[in-house]
Amino acid sequence: MSLQKNKTFLAASAILLITFFIIVFILLDWVDTGFFIGPLRFNHWMVIIGTFFIAVYTPIFYFMKRHYSKRVQSLLNIHIFGFLISFLFVSIHFAGQIARPPQFYPELGEGIALYITMALLVATGFLHRFQIIPKKAQKYYPPHFNRYYHVSITTAFYIIIMIHIFLNLDIL
Ligand code: HEM
Ligand code: HEM
Repeated sequence: MSLQKNKTFLAASAILLITFFIIVFILLDWVDTGFFIGPLRFNHWMVIIGTFFIAVYTPIFYFMKRHYSKRVQSLLNIHIFGFLISFLFVSIHFAGQIARPPQFYPELGEGIALYITMALLVATGFLHRFQIIPKKAQKYYPPHFNRYYHVSITTAFYIIIMIHIFLNLDIL
């Protein structure tokens, strides 16, 4: 791995580690994310910002990458770091929901599928960016599979997020 790629890898891994610890702290009830800021709870503001950024930047990245090829590196860095931070924001909402007290427990459903979809996007994106599949395993899982899965799972993200938002806003 080049020095630059190494730095990017360390920074990306650090964000994932922070995300993991934040989830654990919320589940252990060491931090409260359910307080109100204006009309909404903190964890709802977080997920709205995170989801909005992912939903809007994905098509922007797709088109800009093809039309401004000189900017590919910066566009990709925004994609990677912006989405890892968005994943952190989404995780705050997810952990906040899972940690709700029994008397207010949500009916788990498409939200879980959505979080798994997000985790798969992060995992395939990570493997694709840093090409960390061992040589032996590449016989069964060639590197181009990552890109294929990464882009396909994006479609699932858009479908499930629409269902989740419509259900929770009582539109469906
Ligand atoms: C990728 C993004 C998201 C993930 C992974 C996620 C995950 C979850 C999970 C696991 C739950 C528990 C209930 C269930 O399983 O359906 C939930 C509930 C909820 N989500 Fe999300 N969510 C996301 C985005 C959003 C967005 C953008 C909004 C707002 C527009 C939102 C609003 C809500 C609300 C209001 C509830 C509470 C439902 C209740 O009280 O029963 N979520 N979410
Ligand atoms: C979490 C939500 C994510 C979504 C919805 C998403 C979606 C996408 C899409 C649609 C593309 C195709 C763009 C194109 O080829 O024109 C792409 C490319 C890419 N993504 Fe993601 N991504 C996400 C997260 C990540 C993360 C966390 C990483 C890395 C840590 C990552 C790394 C990459 C890389 C390296 C490419 C370039 C593919 C290429 O040029 O061959 N993605 N992503």
